[in-house]
Parts: sequence; structure tokens; C-alpha cells
Amino acid sequence: MVIAELNPQFLVRAGEVHRSVYTDPAIFKLEMERIFGRAWLYLAHESEVPEPGDYVVRHMGTQAVILTRGKSGGIETIFNRCSHRGATLCAFEKGSAPHGHQCPYHGWTFNADGTVRFVSNASNYDGVLDEADYAISQVRTETYRGFIFGNLAGHAAPPLGDFLGHMKSTIDDLVDRSPTGKIEVGKYQLRHYYRANWKMTFENLNDTIHPGFAHSASVVSAKSVLAEVGRDNIVPTVGMMLANGKPIQFFQDLDMVTTPGGHSYIGGHMGADYTPDTADAYTQSLMDFHGPEKAKQVLSVDRHLMLLYPSSFWHARYQTIRIIRPVRHDLTEMIGFTFKLVGAPEETHVNAIEYCTGANSAASPVIADDLEIYERCLLGNEYDRREWIPMSRGLNEDRERGNSITRTPATSEAYIRNQFAAWADYMGKAS
Ligand code: FES
Ligand SMILES: [Fe+2]
Repeated sequence: MVIAELNPQFLVRAGEVHRSVYTDPAIFKLEMERIFGRAWLYLAHESEVPEPGDYVVRHMGTQAVILTRGKSGGIETIFNRCSHRGATLCAFEKGSAPHGHQCPYHGWTFNADGTVRFVSNASNYDGVLDEADYAISQVRTETYRGFIFGNLAGHAAPPLGDFLGHMKSTIDDLVDRSPTGKIEVGKYQLRHYYRANWKMTFENLNDTIHPGFAHSASVVSAKSVLAEVGRDNIVPTVGMMLANGKPIQFFQDLDMVTTPGGHSYIGGHMGADYTPDTADAYTQSLMDFHGPEKAKQVLSVDRHLMLLYPSSFWHARYQTIRIIRPVRHDLTEMIGFTFKLVGAPEETHVNAIEYCTGANSAASPVIADDLEIYERCLLGNEYDRREWIPMSRGLNEDRERGNSITRTPATSEAYIRNQFAAWADYMGKAS
């Protein structure tokens, strides 16, 4: 199939998707232009670059960008490539460059906002080169409650608030869990690569049918840990493993929420709580800050992962965000960040790190199963003679469609259909 000559929307139809969307490098290239080049992508939290000159490097699809705290206190975002010959400017993922970003090739140096600060042998360019023409392009960003998002479409993109819509409530949930209203990024990231398409993670993380099969071995281990240490001593990784063993009916009764743009979340189901002392101290600190009513409301929210299409996964209750970085059609990196609830007992951050370890560390006893499955699917889909892959689980139960918030049982693949509705929408627009 010559994809480039087809309307990509033809690759999605009622309850089915063409297998080439996972295997074709040409489709991947188009996805980088039309999806990652148009959607709002989560980049970083303001606390990652506290001082002027501090920077982090992030990816928007396959393009790297640098976010730098400028002298005036604002955060500037520019592409991570020199405007002279295109060399990558920053080789490190984070650091401090108070005197600008210097290119390792010929030493041209750029300010946080991309303007040229220094050109080597500048006198050789007298009358032939105007430095103003060589500013590195800036990326449009918007911030919601301290979280910075970027959009490569610039002014053509809708406001970030429109993109987030109802999903702002999950971000609110994360920040409102702080008893001071402040959160800070944790020191370490947990990351892994897998050999398959980026969409596999989006389809897998809230797939409530696979855990009983793909993760059955770790469910058995978790049950023996539970018998040994008791429910009160379960850490989130074990809680995650136990949740994977819950009966299908439990997930059938759980809510899944999908919203326009391909986003979704399902109800919480892990239940790994703080120790009693921490729970009491934490609850009291929230009541002091928010008042009893609001504190009660904050603590009552229990959502499992929010899938913010197409680039990030949020777990507010365990203060974890994962970013997806598509590298090739068959290679993807996942980067996990935890956040401290400033002023909350330290154990709350320990729980976040535990959760992120189970969800995103290469050493996780859970995701190792998923990564193996992703790779097997890639192999199968490259050679299978069956062209169309079903995503029809629960299709008959879809209660409403269109531009609204939709609720379905968490066993449905409505969230995958919702992702591909957004996929077809982004991919179908030529410019
Ligand atoms: S490529 Fe950057 S200074 Fe030459
Ligand atoms: Fe899984």
C-alpha cells in the first residue's frame, strides 16, 4: 500500500485500524508532521529550571527543543540546533548555561531566546551576514498550573485550555494534592526504550483486559507478598501488581472517560495507601490549607492514568507524569517524572517514586511483560496477511459520540477508538 498517496483517514474505519499505522515508516513520518507537529505536547514543569540559565532538553516528536530560564525570569523555548550548520547545541539533557548555549562546532553562541550572542571570527562576516537572520526559532508555549506545553504549529494552534478541556481537572487534582499549593519535580527520572510503535503504549496502559493474562506471573508473586506483609504494608508497585489480578467484573463496573482530542482516563483501582501516621498528618495539612470541604473533595478523587493524547500519561494520585518520545516507527522512549507535594510528609513522594518505578523503570516486574508484548505485536503486524486490526471491544456499548465527555465501562476499547478519531482528524488535514 502506497501510504503517501492515500488519505491517511482511510486507515481507520468503524472498530478497525489498518496494521500499517504501527509498521510503516512513511506513516510515522507523517505522524510527526501532522500529529506531533499540531498537538500541544507536555514539555516540562517550571520547577525543573528554577534559576536564570537553567535549562532542560525535551523532544517534540523527533525534534529536540531547549527550555531555558531567561534573565527576566520567563522560560524561553527554542529548537536544539545551531542556526549556522545545524549541529545539535545542547548534548546534555539538563544543565546551566548562564552565558548562553554555545555550539560545539564553531562556537556560535545563543541567548535563551535564540538570538545570536556571539559569532566566531565575526569580522570575516562583515557585510555578508546579518546576525539577526540567524536567531534560532522559538516554539510557542503555554503553561497550565506550572506545567509547560509546547506546540509546533505556533499561532495556528488553538489555546492550550481548549486542548486540555475536561482533562484540566486531572492536572488540578495533581497540584491540589499539595498542602502548600506548590509542587516540585523529583530529582531522578525513570526511563526505558521499547522496540515498537509509540501508539502501543497509548493503547495498552488503560487496557483492563490484558493484565490478567500478560501480568499473571507478577500477580501470583504479589499475592504471596500480601500474605506475608499484610495490606497495610503494600507499596504501590505491589498494589499495581495486585490490581492487575482483579476480576474482569471489577473493571466492567469501573468508569472510563473519553474526551475530544483522543484523551481519556479510567477510575482508580490500585489502592496502595499511606501508613496511618502519614495519612493523618497529610490529611490535616490539606485541611489547614484548603479547608475541610475542599480537602475532602481532593482526597476523594481516585483516577487511574489520564492519557493526554498524543504525548503524556498522568497519575495525579501518585504524582507521576510519563512522556512518550517516538524515535522511529519501531522504537520509542518513555520518560517518567515524579513530583513532590511541597509541605507534605516525605512518604507521599516515596509512594510516587514507588509507583513510577513499577510503571516506568526498566527494572519493573510489570512493564517488562508489556514491552515483550509490544515487540511481539510489531513482529506479527509486519508480516500478517490480515490487514485490519479490530478495536471493537465494547463498540456496541458506546453510549454517545461526538464532541462531548463520554463514559463507558473500563473494559471497553472506546478510548482506542477515541484516539484513532483524533489520529484521523490530525492526519487528514494536509496543511
Ligand atoms: S554549526 Fe554551530 S557554530 Fe557552526
Ligand atoms: Fe500492562
